[in-house]
Amino acid sequence: MGPEIARYDGHAEWYEENFSALVSEEQESFLRGCLGAGREEICLDVACGTGRYGRVLAGAGYRPVGFDISADQLRFARRRVAAAVRADARRLPVRDAAVSLAAGTFFHTDVEDFAAVVREVARCLRPGGRFIYLGLHPCFVGPFVYRLTEHEDLALSFVTGYGTVGWANRASGDGSRIGGRVGFHHKTLAGFLTAFADAGLVIRAVQEFSVPGHPVLPWEIAVVTHKVPL
Ligand SMILES: C[S@@+](CC[C@H](N)C(=O)[O-])C[C@H]1O[C@@H](n2cnc3c(N)ncnc32)[C@H](O)[C@@H]1O
Repeated sequence: MGPEIARYDGHAEWYEENFSALVSEEQESFLRGCLGAGREEICLDVACGTGRYGRVLAGAGYRPVGFDISADQLRFARRRVAAAVRADARRLPVRDAAVSLAAGTFFHTDVEDFAAVVREVARCLRPGGRFIYLGLHPCFVGPFVYRLTEHEDLALSFVTGYGTVGWANRASGDGSRIGGRVGFHHKTLAGFLTAFADAGLVIRAVQEFSVPGHPVLPWEIAVVTHKVPL
């Protein structure tokens, strides 16, 4: 396992300004619904970035502990969550089967080996524990589709590339300019979902989300998974 590069170092200020307020009511109510009511137990926030989802986790009654590879992102996370630790998500400093809940948002396009991260999260979960993940939809956001004019056109055109897994050499097509700054690792839906199944996590729910200004196809996908009880 090679060293992971902290691609967001130097971009945290920009990320904070552009994304930290972006937690939609729909996302929040979906997450609240699947999180249920916590009893102040620890919840892992994997690749927490600036900690923008920490508020949702804490609001549901959990104690989020954020992990991220970027020290720059963690500067902001520490303002939102009680504990934020610099760590590679492929090697979390957490004991086996230590927690019953882990959450992750919008990072599968930032890691080359998402399956390794999901396996690591599964290792930290108790049998029956949950991993809730929300991120960009692999089928509808990526270098193979340009989505900046769909609100006017009410149409989208796709080009080749959906099946090409890897770092995109074009922008992600979503207008966030994130691909140009930190890179964008495209995965197919099959690769994305198989990461959970191969880690021994059972998918209990899947939800697709549209976002304002993008009426044609969904933008985000969430999966709720459980570690198979022994
Ligand atoms: C798009 S940001 C998402 C941050 C946050 N979860 C959110 O929804 O705002 C992706 C984050 O993944 C982090 N990241 C990328 N590779 C990582 C790794 N191997 N281990 C831990 N964090 C990683 C980046 O530093 C960045 O903060």
